[in-house]
Amino acid sequence: MASKSNRQFVLASRPAKGATLGAFEHSDLRLVETGLPAISDGEVLFRNILISVDPYQRNLMGGVPSELPTTEIGAVIEGPTVGIVEESRNPDFAVGDYVGSVSGWREYASIHGAMLRKLDPNMAPVSTALGVLGHTGLTAWIGAAKLMEPKPGGTFVVTNAAGAVGSLAAQIARLRGHRVVGIAGGPDKVAYLRDELGLDAALDYKSAAFAADLKEALPNGIDRLLDSVGAHLFEALLPYFNMSAKLITIGQIGTYGEEALIPRRDFLPDFINIVHYRDVDLKGFQVDQHLHTYPEFLAEVVPLLLNGTLKHREHFLDGFESIPGALSMLYEGQNNGKLIVRVD
Ligand SMILES: NC(=O)c1ccc[n+]([C@@H]2O[C@H](COP(=O)([O-])OP(=O)(O)OC[C@H]3O[C@@H](n4cnc5c(N)ncnc54)[C@H](OP(=O)(O)O)[C@@H]3O)[C@@H](O)[C@H]2O)c1
Repeated sequence: MASKSNRQFVLASRPAKGATLGAFEHSDLRLVETGLPAISDGEVLFRNILISVDPYQRNLMGGVPSELPTTEIGAVIEGPTVGIVEESRNPDFAVGDYVGSVSGWREYASIHGAMLRKLDPNMAPVSTALGVLGHTGLTAWIGAAKLMEPKPGGTFVVTNAAGAVGSLAAQIARLRGHRVVGIAGGPDKVAYLRDELGLDAALDYKSAAFAADLKEALPNGIDRLLDSVGAHLFEALLPYFNMSAKLITIGQIGTYGEEALIPRRDFLPDFINIVHYRDVDLKGFQVDQHLHTYPEFLAEVVPLLLNGTLKHREHFLDGFESIPGALSMLYEGQNNGKLIVRVD
């Protein structure tokens, strides 16, 4: 039975500068309880049952290089959720409806109906609104298809390939006719990419044999790269860029962890040379800038999901209190698929 107090995780303090950029203490987040929010005309009061935990939420806490506005001390960390309507003052929503929102790490919220997306539990489990059919899937589709000119037969490399975004992007790239090479951390994730997703090659960047594996997997270089790691991994991929290769960067989680502490040379001059002489096309994006493409994305991806062509994994943690630990898991590579907290 859900409590009628409103549990929320607020930012208690900005993470102190730790050994790694991604470091934070769970005490930087504080669990507070308030009453239920008031509800006005046009608004809907809902109880979040599923809460998304995403790497960018560490950026919201501050103290890391990011262009995102940081969360104020004492404010709730924002992010995608799935809720169930408990009271409605909007004719488009009824009690019991499932709604998607960006209400963040809180149990209850009152939000105008115009800011909510009604979810159909008969189409797909509502948890998919946070993963394969939500901002995660949209990011994968934009990076692997919408903004990436296809080169059928060409080699398409995806870093973070076993992650929520990467695993979908790798499959979409394959459906566009590429030879897809996925890179992830550890043998279990590599086995998933190879055996379950059927990628053409899957490599473990943590393996001592990684440099040799990379050479073997890229006999014809890289034509397309969707990167969300940066750092050492990006540097290792640089020499393989082909003429007119296309690179889309969507993040650099590799700059946050232990590996980033290993000294390395400044590879920026080499990178600029490669972009210059090999005519490399470089692009980045934030998914928020592309929300208008959502209907087009759904039109392609929903049928692929429903007919089993597109595979996805969800990693559930139970209990509202597990949110800070969930965020740490993303930076320790402990999640297997889209990380979602089920609120009890
Ligand atoms: N631009 C956008 O709009 C947008 C939207 C969504 C996500 N993103 C970015 O996409 C990336 C993946 O996000 P996601 O939600 O799909 O999370 P995810 O990949 O499911 O989870 C994070 C994964 O990052 C990997 N990782 C953590 N530290 C690492 C390190 N030091 N070096 C290399 N890999 C590391 C781990 O996988 P391994 O075990 O394989 O190391 C971990 O499982 C993030 O960089 C995120 O910021 C960007």
